[in-house]
Amino acid sequence: MLAHTLDITCTLNRDAILPPMDDLVKEAAEAILAGKLVGMPTETVYGLAADASSQEAVLAIFAAKNRPHFDPLIVHVSDIAMAEDCALINELAHKLMKAFWPGPLTLVLPKRDYIPDEVSSGLDTVALRCPNHPLALALIEESKRPIAAPSANLFGRISPTTAEHVREQLGDSLACIIDGGPSSIGVESTVIGFDAQKTVYVLRPGGLSVDALSEVLGYEPSVKSMEAVVAEDLNSRSPGLLKSHYAPQVPVRIKGPADEWPTGKEWGCLAFQDAVEGVAHNEILSANGDITEAAQNLFASLRRLEASDVQQICVELVPEEGLGIAINDRLKRAAGGA
Ligand code: TXA
Ligand code: MG
Repeated sequence: MLAHTLDITCTLNRDAILPPMDDLVKEAAEAILAGKLVGMPTETVYGLAADASSQEAVLAIFAAKNRPHFDPLIVHVSDIAMAEDCALINELAHKLMKAFWPGPLTLVLPKRDYIPDEVSSGLDTVALRCPNHPLALALIEESKRPIAAPSANLFGRISPTTAEHVREQLGDSLACIIDGGPSSIGVESTVIGFDAQKTVYVLRPGGLSVDALSEVLGYEPSVKSMEAVVAEDLNSRSPGLLKSHYAPQVPVRIKGPADEWPTGKEWGCLAFQDAVEGVAHNEILSANGDITEAAQNLFASLRRLEASDVQQICVELVPEEGLGIAINDRLKRAAGGA
């Protein structure tokens, strides 16, 4: 059962008798060491956290999320030294970690035995990331363990960007939820892999833009589109790149650039900047056309659309630049790969 929520925002439901944050992170770390599950804030989305070195704890993650065992987990570390316990880090990976950690970059690297096979679904690689959130870092440091954490949503559903989102779907499975406020980025980390020549490719566009990566790499990494992933059978390398993912429970359609918005009370619409008239529910990602704000609002908007009683959802893609690449990726997946 959910014991309580750890709240640093000091607003709303913060109870004056709650112990200070340090004590609460300590308590969450004890839960981690006892093999329990914790809701962990990160700058991208909230994670469903457990001790990555414990087979049983990792299996509990798959059970709570109803996640298929072929879909491997990301392991969160507090620094490069901890990453070295988990994986073999090549020179380029090291350079990227120094440039972008803590931050929304996940690197797929050869796994060390310290990480049980359950984490990586039997692959010989493990995905590593150092989250840029003080409470996530405090939890990892306090527990002195790498922490496995997929997004804290039921499998295939919309990722959570607030503690409340986590509570709605997974509250009963957790020892506690650390409330670190709304996630500042709002889309998951960018996942990269290395080919045999150590050339980087992007497996999942995310919170770190391809432009920022290119600047450090000195070349533009190829982004494996969903079509390429399916065509090249990369699913076996990043099994989580399933076409239908992040999907609301209501059918989602993508509006083509030349299409009119639909009208009628059965429709809900998700627009980039401008309100849509004549529909039952309308969400706007950013009235100013700010792509950073659009990413922050994406998953909460999709959740509100799902919770409204519309029968169909129509969404518009955003400009395909910067974080827009990750936003459009999630919108296409929400529409089942359309
Ligand atoms: O921002 C994020 O990355 C969030 C926060 C909580 O850190 N986590 C997250 O985890 O999005 P999840 O489990 O929802 O997505 C993990 C992705 C999946 O696409 C999975 O297939 C891929 O990473 N992945 C994990 N391990 C892998 C591996 N060894 N090889 C290739 N892909 C891997
Ligand atoms: Mg996920």
